[in-house]
Amino acid sequence: MSELASPPSGTASALLELAGLEVRYGHTAALHGVDLTVGERELVAVAGANGAGKSTLVNAVAGWSRGRPAVSGTVRLDGVDVGGLPAHRRTGRGIVLVPEGKGVFEGLTVEENLELVTPPKNAAGRRYAVADVYAVFPQLSARATRKCSTLSGGERQMVAIGRALRAAPRLLILDEPSVGLAPRLVRGVLRHVRELVDGGLSVLLVEQNVTAALEVADRLYLLEQGRVGASGPASEMRDDERIAAAYLGGLRR
Ligand SMILES: Nc1ncnc2c1ncn2[C@@H]1O[C@H](COP(=O)(O)OP(=O)(O)OP(=O)(O)O)[C@@H](O)[C@H]1O
Ligand SMILES: [Mg+2]
Repeated sequence: MSELASPPSGTASALLELAGLEVRYGHTAALHGVDLTVGERELVAVAGANGAGKSTLVNAVAGWSRGRPAVSGTVRLDGVDVGGLPAHRRTGRGIVLVPEGKGVFEGLTVEENLELVTPPKNAAGRRYAVADVYAVFPQLSARATRKCSTLSGGERQMVAIGRALRAAPRLLILDEPSVGLAPRLVRGVLRHVRELVDGGLSVLLVEQNVTAALEVADRLYLLEQGRVGASGPASEMRDDERIAAAYLGGLRR
C-alpha cells in the first residue's frame, strides 16, 4: 500500500519526530526504518495487525524494552535527540507511556493508584492533581475507595490513563488502551482520549481497531510488518477505498 499523504514531518512544530527508527530483537528486525511525527495538540494513531511492531515502536520511543532490542535511528522531542536517554529521564521530559495491558496495581484502590504517582521535579507537562484526574474521569471519583481488581476493564483503563496524567505528560503514549473492552467501552475510552487532546495534550495512540482509531485521531499510520504501509489525515484515510477494503472490512460508517 502506498503512502496516502505526507505527514508534516520535519516541521518545527513537531513535538515528537522519529526518523529511520529501526528495532532488532537478535537477528530479527521488528521495525525497518519508521518515520513518524506527532505535533502539539495532535492525536496520532498507530494501527496494524498483531505482530506488526506497534508495541515495539512505542516502547522504543519511551525507552522501554522487553528483552534487549537494538534500537537505531532518531527519537526527537522538541527537536532534541532523546534516543540515548534511559526511560525515567524520558518520562521526566514528558514522554509518558501506558504499556500494553499494564498500568494499575490491582490490589490498591483507585485513589491509592493515583496518589502513588508524583510528577517529576521540573515536570515538562501540565500537572494533574488527583482531583483533576477525577474531573477528567468522573466515574472514577465515585469508585475512589474501591480496589482496582473490582473495576470494569474500561474503568481500569481510566485509572491507567489517570496515573499517566499524574506524571505530567507532554506526550502521552497509550498502547492499546481498548484491548479486551466491549465495543461500547472502547468508544468511551477513546472519546476521553480525544477530550484530553482537545484540552491541549499530545497523544500517540496504538489502536488495533482502525475504524475506532479513525473516529478520534487527527492522523493515522498503518504499520505493516515493521514498515509504515500508509499514513495520512484520518479524514482522508476514512474515505480511502484501499483502507476500507483492507482494514474496515468494507464496512464504512
Ligand atoms: N522481546 C522480544 N524478543 C523477540 N521478539 C520480539 C520481542 N518483542 C516483540 N518481538 C517480535 O517483534 C514483532 C513485533 O511485536 P510487537 O509486540 O511490537 O507487535 P504489536 O504490533 O504490538 O502486536 P500486538 O497487536 O499483538 O500487540 C513480533 O514479531 C514479535 O514476535
Ligand atoms: Mg502490542
